[in-house]
Amino acid sequence: MVKFLSRDALRDILAFFREAGVDEPLDETPSNRLLSAARLAQKVAPPTTSPAPPPAVPAMPRAVSDKPAADPAAPSAEDHERFAFVPDRPVTPTAAVPDEGQVLLARELARKARTLDELRDHMSAFEGCNLRYTAKSLVFADGNPEADLMLVGEAPGRDEDIEGLPFVGRSGQLLDRMLAAIGRDRTSAYIANVIPWRPPGNRTPTPQETEICRPFIERQIELANPKVLVTLGGPSAKVLLRTTDGVLRLRGGWKAHVTEGGVAVPTMPTLHPAYLLRTPAHKRLAWRDLLEVKAKLRELAAGS
Ligand code: URA
Repeated sequence: MVKFLSRDALRDILAFFREAGVDEPLDETPSNRLLSAARLAQKVAPPTTSPAPPPAVPAMPRAVSDKPAADPAAPSAEDHERFAFVPDRPVTPTAAVPDEGQVLLARELARKARTLDELRDHMSAFEGCNLRYTAKSLVFADGNPEADLMLVGEAPGRDEDIEGLPFVGRSGQLLDRMLAAIGRDRTSAYIANVIPWRPPGNRTPTPQETEICRPFIERQIELANPKVLVTLGGPSAKVLLRTTDGVLRLRGGWKAHVTEGGVAVPTMPTLHPAYLLRTPAHKRLAWRDLLEVKAKLRELAAGS
C-alpha cells in the first residue's frame, strides 16, 4: 500500500537530511549500493565504439534457487530476492573500492606527469577514487602556477565543485582578503587542495581517500615548485607534513614539506578560512602567520 506523508513530515525529513549534510540528490533514480562496488565494477564492460546491447534481464525468481549462479559476478537469485536488483539500463561505475592498488596507481600516474597540465589530465582520467563519482568537477587549482607562494586547503565544497575552482565560496572570499593583507592575490599565489573532488555533503575524506589523493597533491607541489607553502587547516597540515599534531599546535612555526624528490619546501601551517569565519577571534593568529610568510618570501627573494 502506498503511504503518503504529510507536508510537515516531509519538511522534517528534509530538515534532517540538511542537518546531516545531505544537500543534493546524486542521481535521478535510486541505485542499489548494497551490492558491493567491486561486483558492480566487474559487471561493467569496457567502453566500445559500438555499445553492446544491455544484457537480457533475468526474470525475477519467485523462489530462491539452489543452483549456483553461472557468472560469479552476476547477481544471484538471493540478490534479486533481497535487493530486487533489476538492471534496466547499462550499469556505470558509481564507486571505486579504495585499496593499496589505487594508491600505487595514483603514485605511478603522478610520477609520470612532467607538467601540471599532464598531471591534471592524469587526474581527470583516474578512476580509482570514489569521490570523483559523486563530484561534478575535478577541482585542480587556481591562481598562478609560476608564483613563489602556494596554498593548499583540504577539499572543495559545494561552490568549488560547481565552479571547478578552489576557494570560491565564503571561505575563498576570506582567503582573498587574507592574501590581500600581505599584498597578494590570485595572480601572485597558486591555490590547490589535498583532495581535488568534493566529498559528498562535505563529509571528512576517509584516510583511504586521502592516501589515494596524496600522490597527486605532492606531485602538484613538486611541479609548481613554490618557494613557500602554506597549509590551510589541520587536515592539509597533517597530510603534507606527515604529522598527527593539531593545527593550533602546528601553526605559526616553520616546518618543511619534503617532496618525493627530496626537496624541502618551507611550509607555514595556518588556520583554515572556514574556521576563521566561525572563530573570528583567531584571525589575529592567521594574520601573524601570514606576516611570517611575507617576511620569508622577501628574505628568499633577497637571497636569490
Ligand atoms: N575549503 C577547502 O579546503 N578548499 C576549498 O577549495 C574550499 C573550501
